[in-house]
Amino acid sequence: MDKLLIEGGRPLSGEVPISGAKNAALPLMAASLLAPGRHTFSNIPVLRDIRTMQRLLGHMGASSDEQEPRVIDTHDIHTFEAPYELVKTMRASVLVLGPLVARHREARVSLPGGCAIGARPINLHLKGLEQMGADVRLEHGYVIARADRLKGASIFFDQVTVTGTENLMMAATLAQGRTTLHNAAREPEVAALAEYLCRMGARIEGVGSDTITIDGTDELTPRQCTVIPDRIEAATYMVAAGITNGHLKLTRCRPEHLGAVTEKLLAAGLLIESRDDTVEVRGNGEILSVGVKTRPFPGFPTDMQAQFMSLMALGNATSVIVEQIFENRFMHVLELKRMGADIELEGRTAVVKGVGKLSGAPVMATDLRASASLVLAGLAAEGTTEISRIYHLDRGYEAIEKKLAAVGARIWRVRE
Ligand code: EPU
Repeated sequence: MDKLLIEGGRPLSGEVPISGAKNAALPLMAASLLAPGRHTFSNIPVLRDIRTMQRLLGHMGASSDEQEPRVIDTHDIHTFEAPYELVKTMRASVLVLGPLVARHREARVSLPGGCAIGARPINLHLKGLEQMGADVRLEHGYVIARADRLKGASIFFDQVTVTGTENLMMAATLAQGRTTLHNAAREPEVAALAEYLCRMGARIEGVGSDTITIDGTDELTPRQCTVIPDRIEAATYMVAAGITNGHLKLTRCRPEHLGAVTEKLLAAGLLIESRDDTVEVRGNGEILSVGVKTRPFPGFPTDMQAQFMSLMALGNATSVIVEQIFENRFMHVLELKRMGADIELEGRTAVVKGVGKLSGAPVMATDLRASASLVLAGLAAEGTTEISRIYHLDRGYEAIEKKLAAVGARIWRVRE
């Protein structure tokens, strides 16, 4: 298992190219199951989760290569199953459920278990499929879903769910009649998926609003698609500029996807200039403490809560951070405290009292975004931080140590 070593305390300076978004690429890859043939994807990030999705599609009979652009060929899908071995390493595997039932009439998908950040059930995905006429059963830890042809339905999500919206939107493209998704997710990754589905021939309206309407069609055709930039990766590097009092220019990103994060970082005293596809971020000497509550898009993303907490650990006063999406997404708190942070937890609220400095320590990554928060803290801390279990980081940040080293960080990957 690899570890990261970081010698902190150096301001970062230079350009960071932002990679394609993991959470946009995964549903696009799953969508390739909806139309037999060769789908061509550009800007797919090189990440462990992407390889897992590739293995999952391969298990079903799809072939794909590792080149840019990446071609996924779904001519010969013969197995309609997502096995436990793959689902347990990546919950997003559940994204194949909708496409399989819609196109292949059946799916056998392992039920994801618990997760480091919360219970994360998929009841809303299953309820929606049942409303569309699928017969859904649970057997031996697997969801078995069958339908001759799905039928359009009016579906109301009790809670905003990103992959739930994506799964049912994909399923509805091949259903008979009209499906309306109420209280749908508005994340840019959902919109990017809808755009590709429309390019394949789907009829979808209301994307970007909380009511999405899909008129089912008989078949879809494979096309080409470029993955949108990763807004969470970009936002993480924005914090890296602020926490090291440095100056970073992020290229190949979409400032319009970074609204809530930009607003909070401006309030925290960072200097930010956005134009076209670049965002320039500078530290301003002092980090101001500001509070934040996570919400679905366009609110402040839960995927940035941990990284923002690292910044607030060095704030000039007290910051109150409320996690409203996942019930258990505070695994980074104990690790940050080992580095000298002053954080009190009560339920879903963290009270972060800014301290003058953090000090390097051995810490352990527990999930993807928690790991990113430890890297950020390590970049700012005095001395050496040693982060173990960084396979979490490799799930979602392309070449993170290379990108950071290129802008002046002292960071190394070492094999244990
Ligand atoms: N929920 C239910 N029932 C469901 C579905 C969701 O109760 O059937 C609850 C969840 O337990 C959670 C809330 O609804 O409390 C929102 O969860 P959501 O379904 O939106 O999360 P997700 O689709 O499983 C995606 C991202 C996550 C990101 C969340 C929230 C992908 C592949 N994953 O997960 O990304 O945190 O949306 O924005 O898109 C990450 O990249 O590190 C990551 C965890």
